[in-house]
Amino acid sequence: MSYWKEGGWVEVEISKGDQKDIDSCLSIAKELKQYFTEEAILKMGEDLKSHVLYVALDSVAVVGFVTIYNKNKHVAEISWIGVKLDFQHQGIGSALIDHITFDLKSQGIKLLEVKTLAEDGKYKPYEITRRFYEKMGFVHLDTIDHYPGWGPENPCAIYIKVL
Ligand SMILES: CC(C)(COP(=O)(O)OP(=O)(O)OC[C@H]1O[C@@H](n2cnc3c(N)ncnc32)[C@H](O)[C@@H]1OP(=O)(O)O)[C@@H](O)C(=O)NCCC(=O)NCCS
Repeated sequence: MSYWKEGGWVEVEISKGDQKDIDSCLSIAKELKQYFTEEAILKMGEDLKSHVLYVALDSVAVVGFVTIYNKNKHVAEISWIGVKLDFQHQGIGSALIDHITFDLKSQGIKLLEVKTLAEDGKYKPYEITRRFYEKMGFVHLDTIDHYPGWGPENPCAIYIKVL
């Protein structure tokens, strides 16, 4: 895919990431202060080491990432996704989801799950996140208030996509 910058198209390639990309992913997440708390960033740091990482790379740097892990032989979950602030709403998040969808389907995975802040949380930034998942074919399956580890102020919306 490509995005528009300063009067020209810049190519972005999605590929598997590894150890060397972890710091870049964490700096993207640290910039997304409305979305990720310091506690979340610590957990993300751990997950980046053990979950499967995909990165979106332009000619210079990592501009987006997603991590996934397999819950069982038919279900995978997105643990984290983020696109660098200045690069959002240009198709990079969609390209990441399309890429993992293709790879997971080829591995025989049938459902992709993601958890995010529910509407009841009434926190504006996550409206965009939910709209993004819905645009990508995820269906809101359930909302769990007091999801373990999320706290009462963060109702958890479970979204699911049939691959
Ligand atoms: C959610 C996120 C990964 C989406 O990545 P992205 O590259 O911006 O998404 P895309 O450009 O592919 O957008 C796809 C769709 O998402 C929605 N969307 C994305 N950004 C939007 C914005 N700023 N306003 C409204 N809708 C938006 C639109 O429906 C869009 O489709 P459209 O282009 O036809 O309007 C990115 O916004 C992000 O990093 N958000 C902060 C971190 C986050 O919320 N992570 C998930 C935690 S559960």
